[in-house]
Amino acid sequence: MDKFIIKGGRRLMGEVTISGAKNAVVAIIPAVILADSPCVLENIPEISDVSISLRILYEMGAKVENLGGGTYRIDATGIKEPVVPYELARHMRASYYFLGTLLGKFGRARVAMPGGCYLGDRPIDQHLKAFSCLGAECSLENGMVDIHADMLTGAQIYFDKITVGGTINAILAAVRAVGMTVIENAAKEPHIVDLANFLNSMGANIMGAGTDVIKIRGVRSLKGTNYAIIPDQIEAGTYMVAAAATRGNVLVKNVIPKHLESITAKLLKIGVNVEEFDESVRISVDGPLVKTSIKTMPHPGFPTDMQPQFSTLLCLAEGTSIVTEDIFNNRFRYVDELRRMGADISVEGRVAVIEGVGRLMGAPVTAPDLRAGAALVIAGLAATGITEIDDIYHIERGYENIEQKLRALGADIERRSVPGTTARKRPVQA
Ligand code: EPU
Repeated sequence: MDKFIIKGGRRLMGEVTISGAKNAVVAIIPAVILADSPCVLENIPEISDVSISLRILYEMGAKVENLGGGTYRIDATGIKEPVVPYELARHMRASYYFLGTLLGKFGRARVAMPGGCYLGDRPIDQHLKAFSCLGAECSLENGMVDIHADMLTGAQIYFDKITVGGTINAILAAVRAVGMTVIENAAKEPHIVDLANFLNSMGANIMGAGTDVIKIRGVRSLKGTNYAIIPDQIEAGTYMVAAAATRGNVLVKNVIPKHLESITAKLLKIGVNVEEFDESVRISVDGPLVKTSIKTMPHPGFPTDMQPQFSTLLCLAEGTSIVTEDIFNNRFRYVDELRRMGADISVEGRVAVIEGVGRLMGAPVTAPDLRAGAALVIAGLAATGITEIDDIYHIERGYENIEQKLRALGADIERRSVPGTTARKRPVQA
């Protein structure tokens, strides 16, 4: 297993280009199954969640061709059995998107239930509710979710809780159902809009994605398409925070500034300069950083996927900051690691109280999950001395070429293999 060794204290300077969005691509790759001819996907990031998604398709019978430069041609017409066994599904929580897409295409699906999660409870009751509204019967047997429908029929689906995954699965299952589906209290994340745009370019009829009411008029068939994935707003936000934490000056390129609004607003609030251009943002710092309060919320609120990175930045700000995690009930697991680097954070339930300490000190730490791992990288870049981060396979799930990108910005970061530790633990959250 590899680790990162970071010699901290260098300002990040220069330009970084953001890759395709992980959370869009893990929905769009399974959605290719719905097409009756091949699709070409561009701007696919080289991250392990993508390799896993593509491998699931391949093992099920799809042809997957890497055309280079982040472009893949996928022909899923060879898939005949709508089954994703545990061996394939267990590597990635988002494999539950195969439920919606296989149900939409074949009228039935058997997919291994997603396993436990590092971030806390992650039930899929709302996904199953959406499938039943459309006329499917769902059961759980031997760890497999089994769904089938004689006919999927458009329906009214009201989510009791805003859910990104549930909204995506409802869209995937409804897109070829007979008649009109109306999803209410839908999630509004940019990757939901991206999925809808992708499906519409295949011939679907989806309106309102990006608002809390999504209307889907079912179509009989969908054809292959060429589609470029949107940039990853969480990767962008992570580099924005890294630039701020090292008091650097970085142009973050290939972004959609609108998707970054809640992150930009908080950075401005704590004293970071953010200049917006058409497809890039420049981050710089020339004064003190000051405390703030953050509460994570569904889009367009402050994203939970930026909470650990921001909390790290707030350790370096003056004053007492309050961070409330309102989406997941176990997303402060990185706090113990940050404390080892000199952070002063106390956690009570879903609330963290962060006393600004001005500086962090390098230490050996372990990445507990993807975004927490990114937060520890930021901490290491800003800290004095050397930080060694273990279990970086978590980080590789969602950040393409992170060490190369950081090195190009002047960071002193290297990857080191730890002999005799080749067996990987398997991540299950996404
Ligand atoms: N929830 C339910 N029932 C459900 C579904 C969700 O109670 O049927 C609850 C969850 O337990 C959670 C809340 O609703 O408390 C929100 O969960 P949501 O379904 O929105 O999250 P998700 O679809 O499981 C996606 C991202 C996460 C991101 C969240 C929130 C993907 C593949 N994953 O998860 O991404 O944190 O939305 O924005 O899109 C990450 O990228 O690091 C990551 C964890």
